[in-house]
Amino acid sequence: MFAMDRLEDVFLEEKSTLPISIEELRAAALDELDDDAVAFVTGSAGAGRTMDHNRRGFERRRIVPRLVRNVDKRDHTTTLLGSELPAPLLLAPIGLQSLYHPDGELATARAGASQGVPTILSSTASHTMEEVAEATGDAPAWFQLYCSTDDEITRSFLQRAEKAGYDAVVVTVDAHLMGWREATINRKYLPFLDGDGIANYIEDPAFRDRLDVPPETDLENAIRQFLDIFGHSGLDWNQLEMISEMTDLPVLVKGILHPEDATEVIERGLDGIVVSNHGGRQVDNAIGAIEALPLVVDAVEGRVPVLFDSGIRRGADAFIALALGADAVLLGRPYLYGLTLGGEDGVREVLKNFLADLDMTLALSGYTSWSSVDETALHHLDELTER
Ligand code: FNR
Repeated sequence: MFAMDRLEDVFLEEKSTLPISIEELRAAALDELDDDAVAFVTGSAGAGRTMDHNRRGFERRRIVPRLVRNVDKRDHTTTLLGSELPAPLLLAPIGLQSLYHPDGELATARAGASQGVPTILSSTASHTMEEVAEATGDAPAWFQLYCSTDDEITRSFLQRAEKAGYDAVVVTVDAHLMGWREATINRKYLPFLDGDGIANYIEDPAFRDRLDVPPETDLENAIRQFLDIFGHSGLDWNQLEMISEMTDLPVLVKGILHPEDATEVIERGLDGIVVSNHGGRQVDNAIGAIEALPLVVDAVEGRVPVLFDSGIRRGADAFIALALGADAVLLGRPYLYGLTLGGEDGVREVLKNFLADLDMTLALSGYTSWSSVDETALHHLDELTER
């Protein structure tokens, strides 16, 4: 339970070392990073329209606060796939975190664990899933899977995730090819070519079986093999179903935007959905994720949990997504900025500020728990009134 008794708590805590405003936080972090890393983190597909739609979608929905309600005691506790979380919040899977800080995913996992906020560890992390599980300790953590073209590697990843103690698997299906990200293409920057982001592969027994010489002897060859098996454009629903049967862990599908795909997830016996457009990094001019959310929620009819990401920046954004029917939201780029500026402490600070903002937004909007917040808490601007 993190609900703040009063806003003064924020002021009484030690002075924040990071900018509170997300725009200033982003600017400060981008200042710290080299040009390649800036291109990588800010990168979006094509003209960047999807990223714009993600944000604009939130601007078209406005909270209508309800007043003179007793909101003295608030409870953000959320049960998700059998785990009780202090708030409907997780950290989105983001690969290659050593680009932002040498401790990378270890710092993120520790900060998340300190607040009870699960980290979703990327397949393409800078540290192995076993190292990150150890850094997480007993706190909940999920593993994000990129299906590889070699089923044995996929099976091995799932077995390792289970053994390391992850609580759920998120299979990301919208990045089987890299999006047309103009900024990184311009710079000819692909971190995998430098051997970044392949820690989980290099340590994987099934991956190593494919290599004539171990990666410690010939890293270039290992990188080539990685590029060969990474990204599975041939993946179809039958295979996805088969993959989900390789593990006893609950399996969620990340990247869903179309209600019929959402229905397919349920028909195939998978356990949950993450509505996401990968932060606008995959398809240019795709539907804003927040616009897709209510359509997916309608199709799902409460049969499986629906999570949401792509564009969450502040408490009010999370409020809107939760009011539209998301069971939880994933925070993405903002925590990377904290990681860049302050490692574990930076991520923790971003998280604490986000949670405090979320709590204030819930209370000031007139609610005491997320189960009582629904679409009636929102006003939706249509095209005409917006002009
Ligand atoms: C991502 N995302 C991502 N998703 C995933 O499933 N596996 C991954 O390895 C990554 N890596 C990654 C790197 C970077 C630099 C970014 C910005 C994003 C997508 C991520 O999980 C999430 O969907 C987006 O970050 C949501 O968009 P916003 O809210 O961060 O803009």
